[in-house]
Amino acid sequence: MTSSPLFFILLCVCIKICSADHQNLQDFCPTATTTKQTIFVNGFPCKDPSNITASDFKSSKMNGSGDTDNFLRSAVTIVTAADFPGLNTLGLSVARTDLEVDGMVVLHSHPRATETLFVYKGVVLAGFLDTQNQLFQTKIREGDVFVFPRGLPHFCVNVGFEVATLYSVLNSQNPGEVSISGAYLEPDKDMLHKLVNNYI
Ligand SMILES: *[C@@H]1O[C@H](CO)[C@@H](O)[C@H](O)[C@H]1NC(C)=O
Ligand SMILES: *[C@@H]1O[C@H](CO)[C@@H](O)[C@H](O)[C@H]1NC(C)=O
Repeated sequence: MTSSPLFFILLCVCIKICSADHQNLQDFCPTATTTKQTIFVNGFPCKDPSNITASDFKSSKMNGSGDTDNFLRSAVTIVTAADFPGLNTLGLSVARTDLEVDGMVVLHSHPRATETLFVYKGVVLAGFLDTQNQLFQTKIREGDVFVFPRGLPHFCVNVGFEVATLYSVLNSQNPGEVSISGAYLEPDKDMLHKLVNNYI
């Protein structure tokens, strides 16, 4: 019977995922990327139905590691309906995160989406802050999933000894990003590490 709570959690996540953006009124509506936008709607206008092909529902944008040659030794590739036509009106985005050893994604939030973070490779410390400023963080490993509730500031740090690869699903076709650390200070890596290490 241990699978019942898990099933319930998965069901809740699925209901949440399916209900975040506005409900779809047709099977699909791949983004019309070539036509000049003359009307402005909540989302993107649909492609001419006679021109829709399977390639509208495929993306190769996460097929390789992002460029981690930077100060934070990390790369996030987020693919929204703007970059992946098939996602338009479906209420989902996907992302890939690559973290070198000690690499990190600093505090940020997505105002319109909950994010599930799946570890494909590596050991990562992931956490978020709630509206009471309480920190919830834990180490996640290959095969684990962590969830960042909608709108709450979150981060992740590679605390393992190899490169980490993570994939996310977000329940909005346009999750948005508010970068909290960058808003008022340049991220100081040593300080962030001390902060994180104090909590481990
Ligand atoms: C549909 O595809 C054809 C052939 O690729 C192209 O010539 C035409 O402009 C497209 N129509 C629209 C509305 O995008
Ligand atoms: C990833 O996708 C790009 C663009 O479609 C393609 O050029 C590249 O060969 C792909 N890389 C791999 C490893 O499949």
